[in-house]
Amino acid sequence: EQINKGKYEHYMQKEIHEQPESLTTTMRGRLIRGGSCKAKTVLLGGLKDHLKTIRRSRRIVFVGCGTSYNAALAARSIVEELSGIPVTMEIASDLVDRQGPIYREDTAVFVSQSGETADTLLALEYALENGALCVGITNTVGSAIARHTHCGVHINAGCEIGVASTKAYTSQIVVMAMLALAIGADTLSNQARREAIIDGLLYLPRKVKEVLKLDKEMKDLAKLLIAEQSLLVFGRGYNYATALEGALKVKEVALMHSEGILAGEMKHGPLALVDENLPIVVIATRDSCFSKQQSVIQQLHARKGRLIVMCAEGDKASVSVGGSSRVIEVPHVVDCLQPVINVVPLQLLAYHLTVLRGYNVDQPRNLAKSVTTQ
Ligand code: G6P
Repeated sequence: EQINKGKYEHYMQKEIHEQPESLTTTMRGRLIRGGSCKAKTVLLGGLKDHLKTIRRSRRIVFVGCGTSYNAALAARSIVEELSGIPVTMEIASDLVDRQGPIYREDTAVFVSQSGETADTLLALEYALENGALCVGITNTVGSAIARHTHCGVHINAGCEIGVASTKAYTSQIVVMAMLALAIGADTLSNQARREAIIDGLLYLPRKVKEVLKLDKEMKDLAKLLIAEQSLLVFGRGYNYATALEGALKVKEVALMHSEGILAGEMKHGPLALVDENLPIVVIATRDSCFSKQQSVIQQLHARKGRLIVMCAEGDKASVSVGGSSRVIEVPHVVDCLQPVINVVPLQLLAYHLTVLRGYNVDQPRNLAKSVTTQ
């Protein structure tokens, strides 16, 4: 039943729209609400015997490819914040190419939807040889990564057929947010923050359902962008990963050049590309980077940038610059979970752009769902 398209025309479309359910399944049985005097907490069965070792590690290294790497990047700062442990990011092939340093005191976390990606598996072998504690985050029970890691968490997003990963991405972020909560669970000082995030997780499926209502708006936007050569996506902080992932979706399925740009780097090159023709999405939802993003919007506008601004509901006036700029309003959630909401309109945009441009949504040219060779 899961591999039926049901009422949808394409798997990618179905998988985008089933995210409220896939996220619910990812969290099922893992969030403990707690009674009157008991704190809300997270239970990740696959990690429970290893949490002490993880908490003692000198560093956490996230390893992945493609969308899985982006999901880890989206969760990086909440893991750092709640665990107090530095997190470094590794694209699997690059870690192997460099034979980068991995130590016995490291916890290496391997993120992979399929659990079979050749580069991620090679990086896993390398980390095992170097004595790191290896954790797997995959969507496939019994996959090579699930089998070869010391412990792990299944994301339980359900079977994903579309080559472009959508529901696995949002579930991966949620699993890594739960990982952050589990590692930080013995720290009293961040208890209120942890509870706010758990509340945010519990509300998340409902908020994703709301953001999916932007479907028509994103189709209209896709109609406007159908003949473009290129699209930039600016993000920072929690939403740098959203910029990379949104651009990756547009690139891989709509076959349009697209780049995710760290807004803090704007003046170090990307600004030279800005003119009245190039469409630019700027993610400016509410978090500690909001005022910096407002300033980025002003600066892009001053160079006549063609802006599409994503902001939280009610913030339209704070980000509007007039002219031909457009604003997409999305539901607001706790800052570290906002990437789960913000990626959805970009998934929808990529989907509609692809259909309108007449390309194969589920089987993009030259790409494979699982890259099992180097
Ligand atoms: C391929 C797929 C991507 C995916 C990447 C990593 O490139 O087309 O959608 O993100 O592999 O795959 P994994 O299964 O390791 O998450």
